[in-house]
Amino acid sequence: MLDHLTVVKHPLVQHKLTIMRDKETSTAGFRQLLREISLLLAYEVTRELDMTEKTIETPMRTMQAPTLDGKKLALISILRAGNGLLDGILELIPSARVGFVGLYRDEETLEPVEYYFKVPEDLSDRLVIAVDPMLATGNSSVAAIDKLKEAGAKNIRFLCLLAAPEGIKRMEEAHPDVPIVTAAVDEKLNEHGYIVPGLGDAGDRMFGTK
Ligand code: URA
Repeated sequence: MLDHLTVVKHPLVQHKLTIMRDKETSTAGFRQLLREISLLLAYEVTRELDMTEKTIETPMRTMQAPTLDGKKLALISILRAGNGLLDGILELIPSARVGFVGLYRDEETLEPVEYYFKVPEDLSDRLVIAVDPMLATGNSSVAAIDKLKEAGAKNIRFLCLLAAPEGIKRMEEAHPDVPIVTAAVDEKLNEHGYIVPGLGDAGDRMFGTK
């Protein structure tokens, strides 16, 4: 079992994150770094996968060699910023199945409302990795994981780039069974729900929409 919270302190991850935080970093630079860092984070979030052995022939002889066990894992992007993490992770795990969860916040009730949900079949038999770069209030992440559990997911991990203590607490309370992997835990949320010092709006920065 992974710890409930893993902060990936690897120097390459930390160095890339610093460049991503810098407001002078271009959209193209941000996107490229996100791709690189997501590959490194994917390495961490896939620790302790179930393994089995199979018989292979090397050029020298027969051997029993380790291989991943079970169904292909499901990678779930929480729209829209989660999409920025997909490419790098798929480079590392090309056979992963991919799903999408779209939620928006109702401005009156402030509750997350689902507008899109398309996930791979047999979620209950797969390791499910939900990805969203920013774990801020935790409201959308918790709601997305609620939906994944309703769809049958039992073995879920959550991967983000930055987390706020408030979001971690919210996730711990709602989904204590879901380990979180992140590159950093920042100081706090501001009054608008943004992580500080953070990196701004991850979606806007990766898609150049602001
Ligand atoms: N979403 C973002 O993109 N940035 C934040 O700081 C918080 C939520």
